[in-house]
Amino acid sequence: MNSDFRHITVLLDEAVEGLAVRAGGRYIDGTFGRGGHSRLILDSLGPDGQLLGFDKDPLAIATGKALAAEDGRFVVVQRSFAELSAEAAVRDLSGKVSGILLDLGVSSPQLDDATRGFSFLNDGPLDMRMDPSRGVSAAQWIASASEEEIARVFKEYGEERFAKRMARAVVARRAEQPFERTADLAQVLTVANPAWEKGKNPATRAFQGLRIYINNELGDLEAGLDAAMETLEVGGRLVVISFHSLEDRIVKQFMRKHAKGEQDKLPRDLPIIPKAFEPRLKLIGKPVFASEAELKANPRSRSAVMRIAEKLR
Ligand SMILES: C[S@@+](CC[C@H](N)C(=O)[O-])C[C@H]1O[C@@H](n2cnc3c(N)ncnc32)[C@H](O)[C@@H]1O
Repeated sequence: MNSDFRHITVLLDEAVEGLAVRAGGRYIDGTFGRGGHSRLILDSLGPDGQLLGFDKDPLAIATGKALAAEDGRFVVVQRSFAELSAEAAVRDLSGKVSGILLDLGVSSPQLDDATRGFSFLNDGPLDMRMDPSRGVSAAQWIASASEEEIARVFKEYGEERFAKRMARAVVARRAEQPFERTADLAQVLTVANPAWEKGKNPATRAFQGLRIYINNELGDLEAGLDAAMETLEVGGRLVVISFHSLEDRIVKQFMRKHAKGEQDKLPRDLPIIPKAFEPRLKLIGKPVFASEAELKANPRSRSAVMRIAEKLR
């Protein structure tokens, strides 16, 4: 693992504006990464403001600890944002947080450092865990999962059309020799993919599926959104940046559901709407995408979509 790789923060100003930072507020950055958003939040906070950062990744945490040593308003924990409400409870922050940011997915250092095992372009050990000290690596999982399970992961999380063929090829090859390296797996997936998409590595979708599965990214997102609702104060902001349609669908449906409330479950002529059925969130503005200038400077911002909501109750 190498800590020299850089991450260019996506939608930096837009996300911090979306949080509507108040000088004395308490904020959570659920995906600290290399701290691009966190530093700008700290710049907007006064001496009494507080920022709590989360990340699963040990190198992100090392950067976070260095920042915490310089700035007493900041603390970082190595934990999933899925556990955000438990961490907030311990810190007496439940229902008291003014804004929560989730900038989802992987960071550039994770993708660019071949030793992390995320990349089909740079060969490395087939790992893919954001926190390599927990759970099973991609190599361990690929060695034991059934063909059907592998196909499901490629299809559901990678939206790979040829998931079945690819899973068959993986299972046939592993019977002769287990997969240990990313380039080895990418090569087998490439050969098994009959219809390469223009400008896209033929292993891209299957690798995305594996990464999402290995890190339980969608399960964490669902739990993290629920946890954010419990942790925000009334008037607090939730800002989420997604990088693919599976994530964005979950965020969009979550925000819409809470913005709509459950009044349609009540009889029409009820004179008073019980509080429990009223909306809990207000949507703020439209989805935000990277500007032309950002797209030019950072092609990884291409797929970013940011949604903002405010807690009503
Ligand atoms: C896109 S990067 C965030 C970059 C950050 N905003 C910055 O400006 O440097 C996503 C980060 O979130 C972390 N991450 C992803 N899912 C997580 C989860 N469920 N809990 C905690 N951290 C997570 C990753 O390890 C990665 O460091």
